[in-house]
Amino acid sequence: MKGKILVAGGMGFIGSHTTVELINAGYDVVIVDNLSNSNADVLDGIERITGVRPAFYKADCTDMAAMRALFTAEKGISGIIDFAASKAVGESMQKPIMYYRNNLNILLNLLELMPEFGVKGFVFSSSCTVYGEPDHNPITEDAPTKKATSPYGATKQVSEDIIADVIRSGSPIKAILLRYFNPIGAHPSAEIGELPNGVPANLVPYLTQTAIGVRKELSVFGNDYPTPDGTCIRDFINVVDLAKAHVVALARMLEDKSDEALEVFNIGTGDGVSVQQLLDAFERATGVKVPYKYVDRRPGDIIQIWADPKRANEVLGWKAEATLDETMLSAWKWQLKLRERGIM
Ligand code: NAD
Ligand code: WQD
Repeated sequence: MKGKILVAGGMGFIGSHTTVELINAGYDVVIVDNLSNSNADVLDGIERITGVRPAFYKADCTDMAAMRALFTAEKGISGIIDFAASKAVGESMQKPIMYYRNNLNILLNLLELMPEFGVKGFVFSSSCTVYGEPDHNPITEDAPTKKATSPYGATKQVSEDIIADVIRSGSPIKAILLRYFNPIGAHPSAEIGELPNGVPANLVPYLTQTAIGVRKELSVFGNDYPTPDGTCIRDFINVVDLAKAHVVALARMLEDKSDEALEVFNIGTGDGVSVQQLLDAFERATGVKVPYKYVDRRPGDIIQIWADPKRANEVLGWKAEATLDETMLSAWKWQLKLRERGIM
């Protein structure tokens, strides 16, 4: 075993895929999750893919006593990946206190416990949302961050600042901030994937639910943007590729491959793909037609953003590999699996 890793929020979409990649890479994984946005069946999926059932603590990371008990029981944790957070932009506008309380208390507890239990490396799930609307694309890590347009986005900016302050204060920990672009798709086995609660706010789950007939029609928010086809542009990153970035980031800290105590990386493909192109790719990859219509712009949407992933490519030796068509097919297979299981 390479070491014991705590995956906070490991039952969720990105956390479950990362758990699989950590196990595949030879790490011993402990998951903590309060199941507020996930469900315990995810463990079965992870076990079916890897043959390993990771230790699972159903606990709230904002509960310091529960977290201290976990670290005491699980001796020798060397790294933490912190996925645990509330992540719905719209909901954060309605419940700002809940968002700040949850997202920041999780982080503060983990950072406080790390030196106490000798944990060395910390990977944090940040987001391209910290950049706001870019002045130019592709965007690099040193581009200025802009005032967040939602409490959710603000929690990511403040979290980045908190981690920097803790390291500046002389804490012995190392941290890597991964700024994800738009994670989509599912494990190719269709054993794990994204399980949105209620009506999806994000494009791909809405699209696959429309394709399977749960939703009547996909609304494309705006086709009059100053982009080649008039729809918004994003950098859609395959979730398995994204998961692998965490494994290399962690190894970089645990194996002392860098002297830097804090580093930040964009995790994206480097390709800007429009909403229309993504829809076309889905239809091409699956052979399934999706009913859609153009509607008004969604307030607050960024027009276009895509990553310059050069730093991650060169420094981490990580690169997105899946094609958009493969990713769309994986999302569709996952949707079919949810139907088969009677979930959707
Ligand atoms: P997710 O909701 O699927 O996973 C988060 C997990 O954390 C869930 O299983 C949830 O039950 C758990 N959790 C929440 N609060 C908790 C608490 N107090 N204690 C214990 N567990 C708790 O979300 P995801 O898409 O996998 O996102 C993971 C991380 O990546 C989040 O920090 C999110 O903000 C960030 N991120 C996500 C995206 C995206 O589009 N999915 C993009 C950029 C960044
Ligand atoms: C993508 C594009 C929509 C739904 C959000 C968060 C961001 C980050 C990733 C966490 C946009 C269009 C969508 C639909 C549509 N999360 N769309 N019809 O807004 O880029 O980013 O998730 O950190 O912080 O804001 O993702 O999937 O909602 O939208 O036309 O039904 O698809 O307008 O252009 P977004 P998204």
